[in-house]
Amino acid sequence: MPNVVLVGTQWGDEGKGKVVDVLTPQVQAVVRFQGGNNAGHTLVVDGDKIVLHLLPSGVLHPDCVCVIGNGVVVDPEVLREELRSLAARGRDLQAHELVVSPHAHVIMPYHLALDRLREASLGNNRIGTTCRGIGPCYEDKVARRGVTVAHLLDPAQLRAHLEVVLPWKNQEIVQWHGGDPFEVDELVAAYVEHGVALAPYVRSSTSVLHRVQRQGGSVLFEGAQGTFLDVDHGTYPHVTSSNTVAGAACAGSGVGPTAIDEVVGIAKAYTTRVGSGVFPTELDGATAEHLQRVGAEFGATTGRPRRCGWFDAALVRHAVRVNGVTRLALTKLDVLSGLDEIPICVSYEGVDDDDFPTSLATAVPVYTSMPGWSEDISGCRRMAELPEACVAYIRRIEALVGVKVELVSVGPEREATIRMGDLFTRDGYPRAVGH
Ligand code: IMP
Repeated sequence: MPNVVLVGTQWGDEGKGKVVDVLTPQVQAVVRFQGGNNAGHTLVVDGDKIVLHLLPSGVLHPDCVCVIGNGVVVDPEVLREELRSLAARGRDLQAHELVVSPHAHVIMPYHLALDRLREASLGNNRIGTTCRGIGPCYEDKVARRGVTVAHLLDPAQLRAHLEVVLPWKNQEIVQWHGGDPFEVDELVAAYVEHGVALAPYVRSSTSVLHRVQRQGGSVLFEGAQGTFLDVDHGTYPHVTSSNTVAGAACAGSGVGPTAIDEVVGIAKAYTTRVGSGVFPTELDGATAEHLQRVGAEFGATTGRPRRCGWFDAALVRHAVRVNGVTRLALTKLDVLSGLDEIPICVSYEGVDDDDFPTSLATAVPVYTSMPGWSEDISGCRRMAELPEACVAYIRRIEALVGVKVELVSVGPEREATIRMGDLFTRDGYPRAVGH
């Protein structure tokens, strides 16, 4: 198995968790390299649902090391709660099974307060953040006034740091927003306690990943959010505060570009987005509601309904280039069953296929319409079992974005997957034919 980075090619919620789940049994380490508990994926353990926001999905595989890289922002309360809920279900993560980078930044309670207060004060201009303190935490990281996981292990340093930083934070919270101030003593007591609990897991992600690869093991780098939420390449300012693209896997976990062999892009068979921001193929009315209802398009983290629209090939084609995608996984294709015709955005008016608009705000989609299919495809396990119109839809997407689709998800269950190519067909699942 090669070393693989897995990224979303749209605005997040592409169904990455399921593809991670398919690949995890073949790897020795799964790494989160950016974002924090703004992400969310649901795991089903013995029929019991657990929603994880921070821990990599590899936690259910005892032979797999889970790594929270330096590029992640960690809310210790959330991390400990996820560890507790796994332990309560019989999965008690041992020190050698979880690595938390000492350089990861810590989401402090004042980051949460600021995220909420700022969003509330922005009214119609709000970003629509998940209010998990992600932006304010990254902001402090770059401003060199953040708290790192290493600080939690050193009470004197944590106190000295907070004595400098907290007055600034309190000034914004109290004077600008009329909120309640935070106290150094209370924060030190609570976060030193978190440090004691997390200490067994804190070690260099670089060393651990290097060892895994030196011993011939493979690593899966699990991206969160999606390409167009990237702070540099996304629809700024309506983006998250980290680099979500494949290139960030290196900086966010401490490995070099030569440690990566493949980039898997995940694309939903239509498009969704939560929060504010441009969305060229957005729908409203009955079709949007249909996709929302059939696709259960409600955020795993915030429960907010997701905005829905047609597949945007111009968008995904750009994501393929930004990330260097080598293989594509197409998810939620079953949601499109029952539509008479399915428009695809093939390009934007006046923009060459090998170019991308400077701003999506003025992009006008050019559509082509594909025939729909009425059959329920959720039981299909091979391409040959899919209706002809469905195969034509997949082939058109491949031609438009320039990468082969090697995995198609046709339902929420683990087995509801059509797998093709060598990467996805290694661990004994029914091998697809006819691709
Ligand atoms: P933040 O990451 O909480 O600061 O939110 C910034 C933007 O990214 C908002 O539009 C969020 O809705 C969006 N966002 C953050 N995480 C996710 C995710 O996991 N899926 C989809 N959208 C997300």
